[in-house]
Amino acid sequence: MSDRIRAVKGTRVLLPDEAERWAEVEAVARRVFGSYGFGEIRTPILEHTELFVRGVGESTDIVGKEMYSFTDRKGRQLSLRPEGTAPVVRALVEAGIGSWPLPQRFYYVGPYFRYEKPQKGRYRQFHQIGAEIVGDEGPLTDAELITMLMRFLGELGHADLEVLINTVGDVESRAAFRAALTAYLEPRREALSADSRRRLKTNPLRILDSKAERDAEVLDGAPRLEEHLSAASRAHFEAVVAALEAQGVAVSRRDSLVRGLDYYTRTVFEIVSAELGAQDSLVGGGRYDDLVAELGGPQIPAIGFAIGQDRLIETLPDDSPLGRDSGVDAMVVPIGEGSGTEALRLAEELRSAGLRILLDSPERGVGKSLKHADRCGIEWVILLGEDEIARREATLKELTGGEQVTVPRSELAGRLASAVDAASGVKERS
Ligand code: HAM
Repeated sequence: MSDRIRAVKGTRVLLPDEAERWAEVEAVARRVFGSYGFGEIRTPILEHTELFVRGVGESTDIVGKEMYSFTDRKGRQLSLRPEGTAPVVRALVEAGIGSWPLPQRFYYVGPYFRYEKPQKGRYRQFHQIGAEIVGDEGPLTDAELITMLMRFLGELGHADLEVLINTVGDVESRAAFRAALTAYLEPRREALSADSRRRLKTNPLRILDSKAERDAEVLDGAPRLEEHLSAASRAHFEAVVAALEAQGVAVSRRDSLVRGLDYYTRTVFEIVSAELGAQDSLVGGGRYDDLVAELGGPQIPAIGFAIGQDRLIETLPDDSPLGRDSGVDAMVVPIGEGSGTEALRLAEELRSAGLRILLDSPERGVGKSLKHADRCGIEWVILLGEDEIARREATLKELTGGEQVTVPRSELAGRLASAVDAASGVKERS
């Protein structure tokens, strides 16, 4: 036997049951986001590396350590997209967003790639469900976006979530803070962790959300971004928090939250869940008022978020309203070689009536067919032997209850449909 070829580290397969669940989650996203006027955007998985260097930032972990980058046959530097915002903005600038009526609202669903250490909830190919509002800078937009996000998560049954929110200020506020923070940390650099010492040069703001204990001690007396906020940034932030509170969306202010991507301005937020622990967030997002201009477009403000779909599904509560069914209503079992063709025809009739049908092979034998249906979690079996075919009948058998009735073919679809409906009604009530 040849050696087995294994999956690439950090990638996963979704088998049908799981893939169905993913599709259900995506359907809820499409419905909820659609009700807020968002339309889908699909961007390429491959982009020029330069897009992320400029958009996300050269000194970020994502660009510095985690991208899957390569040179193509013509010497172009390309990367698998590590995130969705820079590609969306790149695509919109190229499509001429400056001349469109603004604001515009987009959502996206798809795979992203980061070379991270794989563990539960962290993959090298992971998936995001994201949304972006382009062309509106008012605080109500921030509040509406976060409200939509909470509605979506609520519809999936997610309740135990905490929204962490902060402002990183506008460009001027950030520059003033960066200078003050560097001036404070420089004389204390020996006390910092190795990672933070490196960041002191490249991206000192990121030191604030370091998880290292020695950094926490140094940061205790550090200047705070809040002290350097412009009046406009402060007013924007207070208005966002007030609008969210008025909607009943509870938020926790967290002034250490700066996010790991360079494009953010003003509002930033994350959603964490007790189940994921402090290291990993379920959702990350924020404003990026300068990114459109930085990528060659006009000065257009924007805000968005991305939910980690893998984490979202792994932490769905047990009582999530999403169904778990086998995906099949009944199995047609032909009895005897001569019944095969008619069984195929019957299966087609039932599918035309909207039922989900699996056709078993007559070679298996009835006893084994029933066992097989049971293993597959199928509740109803339709037995079709030569006698039934001659009388234009079929036998409908319930696997768990063991009851069976022989009914005219003309009534079969109706009987099965009401039996399936009744069973799912009972499930919903229990
Ligand atoms: P991010 O915080 O880098 O933001 O990623 C958003 C979410 O993607 C995270 O909260 C997490 O759930 C998920 N995620 C990230 N890396 C992995 C991984 N290796 N495995 C599993 N899940 C992961 C962004 O990507 C921004 N583009 C969000 C945004 C949109 N900001 C404005 N608009």
